[in-house]
Amino acid sequence: MASIDDVKIIELPKFLDARGNLSFAEQNNHIPFEIKRTYWIYDVPGGEDRGGHAFRENQEVVIALSGAVDVIVDDGVSQKTFRLDRSYYGLYIPKGLWRTMECFSTNSFALEFGSVAYSADDYIRDYDEFLKLKKDGKL
Ligand code: TYD
Repeated sequence: MASIDDVKIIELPKFLDARGNLSFAEQNNHIPFEIKRTYWIYDVPGGEDRGGHAFRENQEVVIALSGAVDVIVDDGVSQKTFRLDRSYYGLYIPKGLWRTMECFSTNSFALEFGSVAYSADDYIRDYDEFLKLKKDGKL
């Protein structure tokens, strides 16, 4: 049963170079799971929010490869906002937490790694249902 305290910023390796910087991430290493899926969010119009949901099984790492985004994570009791604004920071979000993405900067580009393939059944999209599952210790 994950809580806010299980959400972690992962500092990825970075090679700063006058020719341009380089960072990378490896599964089961910097990314603390086997990567089954990668997706990205881009061209977000000003003021739009994304990702108001929880996953039953999917763990994620979110990286703001370009620009900045706020990721708000909620365990049903507490909320915490993580401002991602460096391409060498990954935010690890365990399964079973509600999360929303807000305040995208212009031209921001957020990359996400997931631990399971896409399944609509893995989503909890109703916040009251999420709260009930948390309260009942089922998530
Ligand atoms: P969704 O996860 O609902 O976006 P957000 O969390 O930002 O609101 O995904 C939007 C649509 O994209 C949804 O209809 C399902 C589809 N989708 C896939 O088909 N595969 C994927 O890996 C993801 C993340 C989404």
